Amino acid sequence: MTMGWFLFFLSCMFYVVSVSSLTPDGVTLLSLLRHWKSLPPSINATWLPSDSTPCSSWAGVQCDHAHHVVSLNLTAFGITGQLGPEIANITLLHYLDLTNNNLYGQIPNSFNNSHNLKFLSLSHNQLSGEIPHSLTQIPPLQLLDLSYNNLKGSIPSSIGNMTELLQLYLQGNHLSGTIPESIGNCSKLQELFLYGNQLEGMLPHSLNNLNDLSYFDVANNRLKGPIPLGHGTCKKLVFLDLSFNGFSGGLPSSLGNCSGLSEFAAVNCNLVGNVPPSFGLLTKLSVLHLSDNHLSGKIPTEFGNCKSLTTLHLYSNQLEGTIPSELGKLNKLVDLELFTNQLTGEIPLSIWKIKGLEYLVV
Ligand SMILES: *[C@@H]1O[C@H](CO)[C@@H](O)[C@H](O)[C@H]1NC(C)=O
Ligand SMILES: *[C@@H]1O[C@H](CO)[C@@H](O)[C@H](O)[C@H]1NC(C)=O
Ligand SMILES: *[C@@H]1O[C@H](CO)[C@@H](O)[C@H](O)[C@H]1NC(C)=O
Ligand SMILES: *[C@@H]1O[C@H](CO)[C@@H](O)[C@H](O)[C@H]1NC(C)=O
Ligand SMILES: *[C@@H]1O[C@H](CO)[C@@H](O)[C@H](O)[C@H]1NC(C)=O
Ligand SMILES: *[C@@H]1O[C@H](CO)[C@@H](O)[C@H](O)[C@H]1NC(C)=O
Ligand SMILES: *[C@@H]1O[C@H](CO)[C@@H](O)[C@H](O)[C@H]1NC(C)=O
Repeated sequence: MTMGWFLFFLSCMFYVVSVSSLTPDGVTLLSLLRHWKSLPPSINATWLPSDSTPCSSWAGVQCDHAHHVVSLNLTAFGITGQLGPEIANITLLHYLDLTNNNLYGQIPNSFNNSHNLKFLSLSHNQLSGEIPHSLTQIPPLQLLDLSYNNLKGSIPSSIGNMTELLQLYLQGNHLSGTIPESIGNCSKLQELFLYGNQLEGMLPHSLNNLNDLSYFDVANNRLKGPIPLGHGTCKKLVFLDLSFNGFSGGLPSSLGNCSGLSEFAAVNCNLVGNVPPSFGLLTKLSVLHLSDNHLSGKIPTEFGNCKSLTTLHLYSNQLEGTIPSELGKLNKLVDLELFTNQLTGEIPLSIWKIKGLEYLVV
């Protein structure tokens, strides 16, 4: 063997030795790169196969004291490619944030092996296919964000198994089918965003079991049937948007039970019937958008109790009678729009006296 070949042989040996000394999590991270079209510069520069652990310098990687990877955050790294099933081999991973890249293809169905994942965001990518069952089999998961992808199919009923879930974001996809009744078993859920899909059928009654639900948005879907909300403890509900759906029936008076409600919108929802006087119980209500429906009857005088109201939109309905002078008690009102109804009489003097009123369109 010549000296040159000997040195080459030595360096190959050295390479093999140094690669094999990388921790298993490091090897797994490198295996993810095989599914990508190109290497983001910061990863190329720091994810070195010759390192012994990914813990000291690899971009986006954080470890525990025992050199296990616990967090992988590659938000907006410019990754183009697929998410390899090997991701689930990082068994102590708690945080996986791949928001805002160009991931495409299906979500791997290996996530049922991610027993420690608490936070999973694949939001703002181009992932397609259906939501794998395996995503619902991660017991400690608290946040699941799959919003703004191209996901289709329905929300799996196994979602009810996610009993630690606090935040579920599925908005901005092409999801269809009904919202599963089992959602009521996600008993810690605080934020549920489903807007901008093609969900159909009725809102499940089990939503009333979600005592901690604070933000609920199902706008821009194809929902129909009655609005079955306000029959449980909805005291935590702060934000509710039902707009641009085809509900039948009216606004339930039970919504008056949701005394913490601050913003409520049901624009263009095909609503008929009266605005329930129980809305006067919503003393924290700041924004109410009920325009573009078929609401009839009088504007309830009880609105005068909604002292926090800044915006009241009731335009494009079939409301009749006079404008109640009680609206003049709403001294935080900025925007009052009542046009395109069948209201009669004059604008009460009390309303003219609201100091901050900027938009008055009747
Ligand atoms: C990766 O880094 C090496 C130098 O460390 C450089 O030669 C190579 O061009 C880089 N590749 C990419 C895709 O950036
Ligand atoms: C990931 O990094 C982004 C940007 O630095 C940050 O906003 C986000 O909170 C991080 N995600 C997690 C789970 O810590
Ligand atoms: C990593 O994951 C892949 C795909 O899920 C699996 O086939 C492989 O056996 C795993 N490797 C290790 C070292 O655990
Ligand atoms: C995960 O799911 C796969 C099939 O989808 C199955 O083979 C495997 O046993 C499951 N792992 C666990 C821990 O449930
Ligand atoms: C919940 O998970 C258990 C264990 O994985 C399974 O047997 C059960 O069918 C699941 N239930 C639902 C509704 O997915
Ligand atoms: C919800 O949980 C209850 C028990 O807590 C169980 O009986 C029921 O089958 C579950 N429903 C669904 C749809 O997962
Ligand atoms: C909610 O309100 C409705 C009508 O306003 C009432 O009949 C019902 O008992 C209330 N439910 C609860 C759980 O408070």
